[in-house]
Amino acid sequence: SPKNQPWRPYFHFRPPKNWLNDPNGPMYYKGVYHLFYQYNPYGSIFNKTILWGHSVSHDLVNWIHLKNAIVPTKPFDINSCWSGSTTILPGNKPVVLYTGLDSKNQQVQNLAMPKNLSDPFLKEWKKYSGNPIMTPPHGVKPDNFRDPSTAWRGKDGNWRVVVGGLRNNLGVAILYRSKDFVHWSLHDEPLYFGKNTNIWECPDFYPVSTNSRDGIENSAIGINLKYVLKASFKSHDYYTIGSYDADKEKFLPDDHKVLIGSTSDLRYDYGKFYASKTFFDSVKNRRILWGWINESDSSTDDIKKQWAGLQSIPRQVYLDSTRRQLIQWPVKETEKLREKHVSYFGKKLKRESLFEVSGITASQVDIEVSFMLPKLEEVEVLDPKRNDPQLLCSAKTSSVIGGAGPFGLLLMASRDLTEQTAVFFRVFKDNHNHQFVVLMCSDQRRSSLRQGIDKTTYGAFIYINHKDKMISLRSLYSFQVDNSVIESFGAEGRACITARVYPKFSVYNEAHVYAFNNGSLDVVIRRLDAWSMKKAKGN
Ligand code: FRU
Repeated sequence: SPKNQPWRPYFHFRPPKNWLNDPNGPMYYKGVYHLFYQYNPYGSIFNKTILWGHSVSHDLVNWIHLKNAIVPTKPFDINSCWSGSTTILPGNKPVVLYTGLDSKNQQVQNLAMPKNLSDPFLKEWKKYSGNPIMTPPHGVKPDNFRDPSTAWRGKDGNWRVVVGGLRNNLGVAILYRSKDFVHWSLHDEPLYFGKNTNIWECPDFYPVSTNSRDGIENSAIGINLKYVLKASFKSHDYYTIGSYDADKEKFLPDDHKVLIGSTSDLRYDYGKFYASKTFFDSVKNRRILWGWINESDSSTDDIKKQWAGLQSIPRQVYLDSTRRQLIQWPVKETEKLREKHVSYFGKKLKRESLFEVSGITASQVDIEVSFMLPKLEEVEVLDPKRNDPQLLCSAKTSSVIGGAGPFGLLLMASRDLTEQTAVFFRVFKDNHNHQFVVLMCSDQRRSSLRQGIDKTTYGAFIYINHKDKMISLRSLYSFQVDNSVIESFGAEGRACITARVYPKFSVYNEAHVYAFNNGSLDVVIRRLDAWSMKKAKGN
């Protein structure tokens, strides 16, 4: 029965049942975190009618599910209320911009606001009577115009917002400006665009601090800032870091790092993670990222289990000290769910060795581990022609002996290891770039003995500077295992890989965690901490 489901996550956000996709309009308001999401209240597949589900939380961990916030009612959104964002207007007044599928199924942008600002849960929403406020501009087809971002205010006091689109075969972040948030005018040039990408969905644009982990409010103006531009296309969330020329209304990526969806583009996550959105948390001064994690099973399975889709653990995001990439780490509040704790210190992982991390509930567990690799000189050399980390992980699996690595963890593993998800590392010397690089892999091929599941292997590179090689390899790796979800954070959050797994046998108490080393060099686990995770309220 759907009640007894080993794949139901315990501490990842999802509504009690039915289909969920993108996170929408996350924000903090009067002591409460809000999360809206694309939701089909009538079933567990993506359907004709999608609307805004709504849940609230005091801690980003335990959730209260409210009634749907924005639902199709008017000619400008009668066929669906698609993705959008919130902006907090001066005077602490949140407003929502969202995409409506109108009576002709055209994509238009609409404005909505809370009915009662003194209700911190903001349960009731009303729509602006003059909707739509934006219609597909010239050169943009009516089905290629959606997902307004959080707006920001320039020095001139005017608002700016970007809407995702496809124009002349370019993925675009279409720019609009407004004095009053109601009347918007199109700027001729997009804020930024990319080639060969399809439509850009859910664009996100925000400042990050160059000298602290603190988050920056979207309208902040100042020095010590860089800007992140993210677009969702080809099943992934790609981002680039650069500067924002406010006078020319242009985003300028550093080092000509364009967004084209190639393997050299930066991604928030190298597994399953899409249509994400950040918000500035004004109470804790941080920027938080939410992303949608979809299913890897079939829609027939989803209909049977009566739910599909969940949100990632909210991640704090900030700029790495190299300023070349972002760092992501599960928000601190997630630690509230930790209970039973085991730890290991200075444990040697000899070649072809395996040991069980016992004493925790392996199907709901939070693991932090740091490794030590004594002789980096003897590692494998990276073949410059094999520079796609995902393909490299598929070829060099956890059983292909290397130098430093493969070593790592077997998660959601059965005692006989016939079912297991290997998340592991392999260190290479990249002679071309005079760097060491860690290949991080999440291998789902043996995650389940069931058929009909997408078991693609995922991979990511983590670059390490020569000078701080020891420090970087000693950095922290974190794994959040939640029945059918595994979120892995490599090297303090420099690379993230999210995977879905549906074991047939290694569920509940039949799941185990092992650490292994199949490299020819010994690896030392400096420290490993594992905690069983409690169920979050609302799940
Ligand atoms: C991204 C997306 C958005 C759209 C929404 C519809 O997953 O396709 O572009 O607004 O989902 O639910």
